[in-house]
Amino acid sequence: MEYRIKPARKFRGRWEAGGDKSLTHRAFLFNAMAEGEALISNASGGDDCARTRIIVEMLGAEVTANGRHQWRVRGCAGSFKAVDEVFDCGNSGTTMRLTAGLLASQAHSYELDGDESLRGRPMERIKAPLELLGAKVELADGGKPPFKIHGGGLKAGKYESPVASAQVKSAFLLGALRAQGDSSFREPALSRDHSERILGSMGVKMTQDLDGWLHISGPQLPMAKSIIVPGDISSSAFLLAAGLLIEGSNVVVKNVGVNPTRTGLLKVVERMGGKIAVYHPREELGEPVADLLAQFSVLKGVELLPEEIPSLIDEIPILAALASQAETASEFHGLAELRHKESDRLEACQRMLEAFGTESSVLGDTLRIEGRARLRSCEFDPIGDHRMAMAATILALCAKGESRILNTDCVATSFPEFPSIIRRMSVNALESVEVSS
Ligand code: S3P
Repeated sequence: MEYRIKPARKFRGRWEAGGDKSLTHRAFLFNAMAEGEALISNASGGDDCARTRIIVEMLGAEVTANGRHQWRVRGCAGSFKAVDEVFDCGNSGTTMRLTAGLLASQAHSYELDGDESLRGRPMERIKAPLELLGAKVELADGGKPPFKIHGGGLKAGKYESPVASAQVKSAFLLGALRAQGDSSFREPALSRDHSERILGSMGVKMTQDLDGWLHISGPQLPMAKSIIVPGDISSSAFLLAAGLLIEGSNVVVKNVGVNPTRTGLLKVVERMGGKIAVYHPREELGEPVADLLAQFSVLKGVELLPEEIPSLIDEIPILAALASQAETASEFHGLAELRHKESDRLEACQRMLEAFGTESSVLGDTLRIEGRARLRSCEFDPIGDHRMAMAATILALCAKGESRILNTDCVATSFPEFPSIIRRMSVNALESVEVSS
């Protein structure tokens, strides 16, 4: 599939945000391990979370559809079935890495695999903490998937992660939860803390000391907990960015998860002079939620520091798009982790900016983007990376002439409604987005 996009004169409308991908994965995985039954509402409709849902079902959790984006899950109370088939994680790193943590405590052998992009992503970072707890992990050459795990008989351990990664942290916590004894975990900077919050609301006891060490005693079993999944700020970011960039625009996104470990984008946009207002703050299972309103703004360049990257790691492509339109240059520092996402996103961001006629350069793990770009229409291939496809679509709405974003099937991994929402919110004499196969 490809999108053909004409410039939008304005971008206006309202979206009830679809469920957050990170939270949906966790709602399925944690409730599958738990004792009891839970209702998961506003689950992400993307392919990534469907992979997780199918895997927990194969493992013995009872999963039934209960309406649009709503699932009833009866957990396995800590014991999963042996499964001979290979689990297909598709494009989803979160599925592979968190499921591995879930399986570490099971006295069976399992194999997880994925598509070409996932087969290129590093898994040593999960092998090390799970082996410390006593599981055995086999990987293909270079520490990549397929991922084989032989679990059971876990013992507590102390692990200091070299990367700030919520996937590493969550895999470790899922193992430690079922291990015998007191385990601890620390990371170099705080990554998204959804696992800590949701497990906490499911009755799991976990503490964090002043030096940043998380402490968890095992074995513990979470109690099933229903959740209305807050909206996905990472998907919302694309619509909010279109609102900021296109003159006369006004975009409302309702029910967005605004956990502070995910809202780096809001802080950075504020520093750029962008107007995103936050309304009606509330909470769902310990997760902050709010409504967001973005309005057209004149932006200035910004400097991103390495320590703020974990809180906006998935928003770098759309922040790069915003920076291209700022009045001054921007520098994003500390982007090494971007090379290990669904594509090498540091290279992909530069390729996208260049395609639209923006000057940028990469030095080490710093991306510099010259502002004031007069965007030209272009053809851009996101090479299987959903966030690159969506960031490029937003730039195309601001470019002169018609652009083509190729191979956009990947968008369905996280945000299947994206093309129809863009079409609905783009004010233009002609339809802004044409989707063709
Ligand atoms: C995720 C964590 C992040 C993020 C990914 C989802 C999660 O990855 O990029 O899209 O749900 O835990 P890392 O934790 O590896 O940085």
